[in-house]
Amino acid sequence: MAEPNPTPARTPTAAVEDYLERIAALIQTKGYARVVDIAAELKISQASVTTMVQRLDADGLVKYEKYRGLILTNAGEEVAARIALRHELLTGFLRHFGLPEDVIFRDVEGMEHHIGEETLTVFTKITRYLDEHPEVVAKLRAEE
Ligand code: FE2
Repeated sequence: MAEPNPTPARTPTAAVEDYLERIAALIQTKGYARVVDIAAELKISQASVTTMVQRLDADGLVKYEKYRGLILTNAGEEVAARIALRHELLTGFLRHFGLPEDVIFRDVEGMEHHIGEETLTVFTKITRYLDEHPEVVAKLRAEE
């Protein structure tokens, strides 16, 4: 008997989430997101980006508009906003522990796709507690 698929078809994959996160960030900083910019950001070929953009378009997450370039649909915006919020929450948590920014970024980029809502809520509560209790942060950081 086949294993049940743990990921429903409509749940975006980590790759889809990464694309939408990058596209939203590009639109926010540059005002537009071109295939060439996405390829440079994700360090992959323009041909791969084009293939993925076509898939995102077919899934109703982005639209290609002549003159404006790529834009996110409402559904695409939703996925991008969700992942951006996760990125922010997890970064806020890890910054309490004095880790180098590149380590935080690398690990958050991995975790943000896989952490469940319940666990994210726990991290959020701990982060809020640590924000309000710098003495606890100092104690934790002093421990080897
Ligand atoms: Fe991220």
